[in-house]
Amino acid sequence: MAVSVMDIEEGATTSLPGKLTFQVFMCSIIAAVGGLMFGYDIGISGGVTSMDTFLIDFFPHVYAKKHRVHENNYCKFDDQLLQLFTSSLYLAGIFASFAASHLCRRFGRKPIIMSASIFFLLGAILNFFAQELGMLIGGRILLGCGIGFGNQTVPLFISEIAPARIRGGLNIAFQFLITIGILAASFVNYLTSTMKNGWRYSLGGAAVPALILLIGSFFIHETPASLIERGKDEEGKTVLRKIRGLDNIELEFNEIKRATEIANKVKSPFKELFTKRENRPPLVVGTLLQFFQQFTGINVVMFYAPVLFQTMGSGNDASLISTVVTNGVNALATILAVITVDKLGRRFFLVEGATQMMVTQLTIGALLLNYLHLVGPIKSHAVPLIVLILICIYVSGFAWSWGPLGWLIPSEIYQLEVRTTGYFCAVAMNMVCTFVIGQFFLSALCRFRSGLFFFFAVMNVIMGLFAIFFLPETRGVPIEDMAEQRWKKHWHWKKYFKQN
Ligand code: BGC
Repeated sequence: MAVSVMDIEEGATTSLPGKLTFQVFMCSIIAAVGGLMFGYDIGISGGVTSMDTFLIDFFPHVYAKKHRVHENNYCKFDDQLLQLFTSSLYLAGIFASFAASHLCRRFGRKPIIMSASIFFLLGAILNFFAQELGMLIGGRILLGCGIGFGNQTVPLFISEIAPARIRGGLNIAFQFLITIGILAASFVNYLTSTMKNGWRYSLGGAAVPALILLIGSFFIHETPASLIERGKDEEGKTVLRKIRGLDNIELEFNEIKRATEIANKVKSPFKELFTKRENRPPLVVGTLLQFFQQFTGINVVMFYAPVLFQTMGSGNDASLISTVVTNGVNALATILAVITVDKLGRRFFLVEGATQMMVTQLTIGALLLNYLHLVGPIKSHAVPLIVLILICIYVSGFAWSWGPLGWLIPSEIYQLEVRTTGYFCAVAMNMVCTFVIGQFFLSALCRFRSGLFFFFAVMNVIMGLFAIFFLPETRGVPIEDMAEQRWKKHWHWKKYFKQN
């Protein structure tokens, strides 16, 4: 199975060099452009689906519905095909990340990152020239392959290339780049929304980060772990010397070698993960964290905020500006997580974030219930502004909790032998749930109206309780001590372990 520096005992690695060298810095930044592309995709689709020129070209019936004065507010954008435009990317991403988990073991991380950028580039080009819906969806599928390849490989690559001591920080920095991508996309949408064929530039803009990644990927090193795992020990040593800036890298080399040997004893990591009792707690917790991450309702805001603002009666411009504002808050709040997550702990943020999101969802639901009637815009000017402020509070709650931690915790709770496979399960859960939200939100909004926000509020209560009762605090615990120090002592999960 694939082995990574994630797979090396944290306790043992503390004696390894912890310096951030220029090589590691550059390689990580280049790879993290994968996060930028992911973010760009998340941020671009909402704005594009609310652009009139785009709707006229591809979804004229939705355009007509949107402008019918007597059309039900909550159903203006309800269209399975329109939603497929957003969600098809994630459907492709599920399969691509599964393929990537195998391919990057066989061929290394670097070619897979390179392929991710090529998929992105082709997807962006196809979308730019799209003449019909088929080309548009085809482009989204190619982008989805890029995301699947990138999301499975980039975090792994960064973890493998980074010195163990600063791995956590670099991991959350990946999420930060996602938020920057989302922000950039909403800004691009704002600029292009008034242009003729503006949507083409928005969608084609994905080519920019893709090109940066493609060019950059020629300059990154293959990770030592991947080289050593594939029997290329000498090459692995050479890269280790380069990225650590040291001649003596024997200690780290030996650790990677040892991790590889242990991991290679497990012939079927999937079987090991699903059948061994001790693996059940991290599997359930890691995968559920991603399930809950999506059911905070975050992508309702990320994908459909412009549509929501328009539903409340804001003009096209105002709704796109509102989206830039919420995405700016998203990026800023993520920085706070990078700085404080190792001090205040994971559970604190998860519970605080869930509470903050629950309160804001309830309030938004109540406001829509009272002010957004079935037909006609909201009469009050204050209500859309209050909803915007509430959405910002909601997004910040996500950005310092379930956003980054949904990715970080699954990377630190698995036993060595099943860590990368377990991580794949988290990525896959993310893609499946993002697909479901992307595909069904607008229809659900039409059917359940403001009740949808109450549904997400309830989900936030459930996930807060889950964090309190089922999530052991993982802050500061060496990865390999997780079972001894946490799972075996947990009131519920301890029954999955043989007690000493
Ligand atoms: C989530 C995405 C979400 C983004 C928002 C990520 O952690 O996986 O689904 O759109 O955060 O910043």
